[in-house]
Amino acid sequence: MRSVTPALPACCHALRHDWLLPLPLPAVRLASCNFTPERLQDDDPVHLGLTLPDALQTAAAKRRCEYLAGRVCAAAALQQLGGGWQYPPRGSDRAPRWPHGYSGSLTHSHGWAVAVVAHGHHWRSLGVDAERQIAPERAARLARQILVEEEIAHFNRQDPGAAAEYLTLCFSLKESLFKALYPLVGRHFTFSAAAVHLHAAPGQASLELRESLHRDWPRGRSLAGQFARRGEHRLSLIAIAAD
Ligand SMILES: CC(C)(COP(=O)(O)OP(=O)(O)OC[C@H]1O[C@@H](n2cnc3c(N)ncnc32)[C@H](O)[C@@H]1OP(=O)(O)O)[C@@H](O)C(=O)NCCC(=O)NCCS
Repeated sequence: MRSVTPALPACCHALRHDWLLPLPLPAVRLASCNFTPERLQDDDPVHLGLTLPDALQTAAAKRRCEYLAGRVCAAAALQQLGGGWQYPPRGSDRAPRWPHGYSGSLTHSHGWAVAVVAHGHHWRSLGVDAERQIAPERAARLARQILVEEEIAHFNRQDPGAAAEYLTLCFSLKESLFKALYPLVGRHFTFSAAAVHLHAAPGQASLELRESLHRDWPRGRSLAGQFARRGEHRLSLIAIAAD
């Protein structure tokens, strides 16, 4: 663990710590940065003190750079919480292993990385996801893979642009849900496991489980979510409070 912030390589643009979502969550820290894979140098991870997983050593620059940018954001958020500058390693299930006493999540999409981190005694688990706005034609193709019946009914009532926006939000919120719940239920689950309800209040949603995932996460249990438009991206967050 480093006590000071290392110099960032040219592929990572300036770190930001502003809260990008509509509802501030006490004691959650967010870090984000844009990144440019074309500027990645092979020795950037070494200079950062970051070990790439074996499987990524020979990966394309885009994949190495998004991994690096996600870890830089995670380290920056951990540092803001007093955890020092440290990179959560990747587990064999590909989920990040957060330091003992912390929960977190990270995402990267088309040159943008975001991480959220909290103390585990405040927030038991977090899930964050960024998705680029999905085009209407692609949204129509994806709808049946991502949406449950009542969501499809809502999708079909919208004009193509609004339907694509809705699908992108459902997709992102469900990916955030997966990242938040996977560490707690210990298994994979698919998009049919939850239904998204968008609230009248801007940027707020709830997700209702449509399948029992665990005895503590039965069918019918609801989780709060939030989302925001950030340029070409839609960003969502699910935060599960500690008991
Ligand atoms: C794992 C998954 C959620 C990643 O989402 P994505 O949109 O493809 O990619 P993102 O950039 O947003 O997130 C990638 C990061 O998620 C994290 N991640 C991967 N597996 C994870 C898991 N099981 N639990 C929590 N976080 C995980 C990693 O940090 C990864 O980045 P890294 O490989 O650079 O470390 C996605 O690939 C997936 O498997 N989805 C299917 C499951 C699902 O969403 N079901 C819907 C349930 S309603």
